[in-house]
Amino acid sequence: MKIIDGKAVSLSMREELKENIAELKEKYGKTLNLAVIIVGNDPASEIYVKNKEKACLEVGISSFTVKLDENISQAELENEVKKYAADSDIDGILVQLPLPKHLDSKSVLRLIPDEKDVDGFSDGNIGKLAKFDDSAVFSCTPFGIIKLLKAYNVELCGKHAVVVGRSNIVGKPMALMLLKEDCTVTVCHSKTSNLSDITRQADILICAVGKKHLITEDMVKDGVVVVDAGMNRVDGKLYGDVDFEKVSEKASLITPVPGGVGPMTITMLLYNTYLAGKRKVEVNK
Ligand code: GUN
Repeated sequence: MKIIDGKAVSLSMREELKENIAELKEKYGKTLNLAVIIVGNDPASEIYVKNKEKACLEVGISSFTVKLDENISQAELENEVKKYAADSDIDGILVQLPLPKHLDSKSVLRLIPDEKDVDGFSDGNIGKLAKFDDSAVFSCTPFGIIKLLKAYNVELCGKHAVVVGRSNIVGKPMALMLLKEDCTVTVCHSKTSNLSDITRQADILICAVGKKHLITEDMVKDGVVVVDAGMNRVDGKLYGDVDFEKVSEKASLITPVPGGVGPMTITMLLYNTYLAGKRKVEVNK
């Protein structure tokens, strides 16, 4: 068994990004600007946003955070997003989720133009991904997983990939990205009967459910590649969806939690912001 080191892959990608971002500035005078919008005082969201800011600074992306009041109205928030959508100096817009309950996140996200949607959440970007259109912005966590698999030379073509979880942010785009890589894809979810019969068939097993240790060693075959996107905090400790200790005895490759998928998510946000700026330069060339 070999551990997939997400920290190491993430670090080397960020080094390369730093160089590419500097080159964009040198060659074309292009700086990258990311607007991050956060509403309210959710402590987890505040930590995410701080980490994003720090990561942007490290690779040379100029990001700024717009902190809005918990009680902001839908119209006021939408006006704020519209302002950055119309600003040609802004390359990327990120609205930190979840939004407070009185706000409709779908309508807010619809205001972000596809080319500035560095999260890859928009209807347009998901549609483009489904059509294997190269101009799609890929959602960060599944995109990071593809990069991890490629960094470890995992053969994808013709393999049976089983995705457990069907969220809009991870499971669904993950399935589409694996299909684009020529995997045979099965998607399982909370209503799937005989989950273990299906997971046992997986050459590559991706878990993104949010249930501590849902996947046990009897549910995988020998030699499987396991990617765990679960982040379950129990009594202050972080656990994945996979029982790492036991499953790692059967897997040929496996991501730990923490230190596997997690570090890649922000890296892919940086990468998407770089791509957004680069595409803009290329269009105007
Ligand atoms: N909340 C938790 N993760 C994310 C993310 O990747 N993007 C956004 N916009 N909100 C989040």
